[in-house]
Amino acid sequence: MISGKTKICGLIGDPIEHSMSPAMHNAAFKNRGLDYVYLPFRVAKTRLGEAILGIKALNIRGLNVTIPHKVSVIPLLDELDPLAEKIGAVNTIINNDGVLKGYNTDAHGFLRALLEQDIEPDGKSIVMLGAGGASRAISFILAERGANLVILNRQLELDWAVKLGNSISRTFGREVKALELNEQNLAPVLRKANILVNTTSVGMSPNTNETPIPARLLESDLVVFDIVYNPVKTKLLTEAESAGAKAISGLEMLVWQGALAFEMWTGLTAPLEIMRKATIRALKK
Ligand code: ATR
Repeated sequence: MISGKTKICGLIGDPIEHSMSPAMHNAAFKNRGLDYVYLPFRVAKTRLGEAILGIKALNIRGLNVTIPHKVSVIPLLDELDPLAEKIGAVNTIINNDGVLKGYNTDAHGFLRALLEQDIEPDGKSIVMLGAGGASRAISFILAERGANLVILNRQLELDWAVKLGNSISRTFGREVKALELNEQNLAPVLRKANILVNTTSVGMSPNTNETPIPARLLESDLVVFDIVYNPVKTKLLTEAESAGAKAISGLEMLVWQGALAFEMWTGLTAPLEIMRKATIRALKK
């Protein structure tokens, strides 16, 4: 029941109709018996400034931020987590008595999903497919944690991989290789790799028959993390399992980024299994 004391959280983005976050967070609030509600707010690019002022005016406790606002929201906040500042993108805002602080729980959520599987990226060799926004957040937290990265992007946008690599090198003083995404480049780097991360949208519903790399390149000692969560098990993950590799679904990153936001807003441990189940249920709709 919504009451006069109900605390409000939500999501700003455009579009937001297909977001899993309302289902995931409202299930978590209910499970913890919290007087909180999570609402979707569709905010056009041109209205972002008003929306951010509205957080304070309406005493909203916290927000998730999605496309197209993750970068442009930064100058509108009062404080910024150092890693979110380095990444240059925010997906979670907490309102502490009128002071708005931004975080990037996409990056932290990815790391937590790995650590939960007892995989420590420090000192590991990691191959990243894609050089967009998600790749940037994940690459930064992996580099900060001590991983060695190779970033591959399709030829058309190879420049993005080079820029991202240079930006990580400058920030963390760690050499990052950027290559064109093709089999010739992939084969040798994958042979030396411990972890493969797909941050491209290849394989995402409705194109569930697609995969970013040929199955013959997958070996049993590899951990394959596909950040695509719809479907929960992509063709890449199915082929990774067939090769005897460990497969981690983007669902885990999605649920962990939500769990970390939940913990910031409520100060309580997130009910992970409840959030995972609610997300899977929402995905089936
Ligand atoms: P996100 O915020 O999810 O990272 P993004 O910034 O659009 O989204 O980045 C998506 C990544 O997937 C990019 O690296 C993109 O490659 P380009 O930079 O060349 O666009 C990659 N990508 C998308 N579709 C792809 C495809 N069919 N093959 C290979 N890479 C693809």
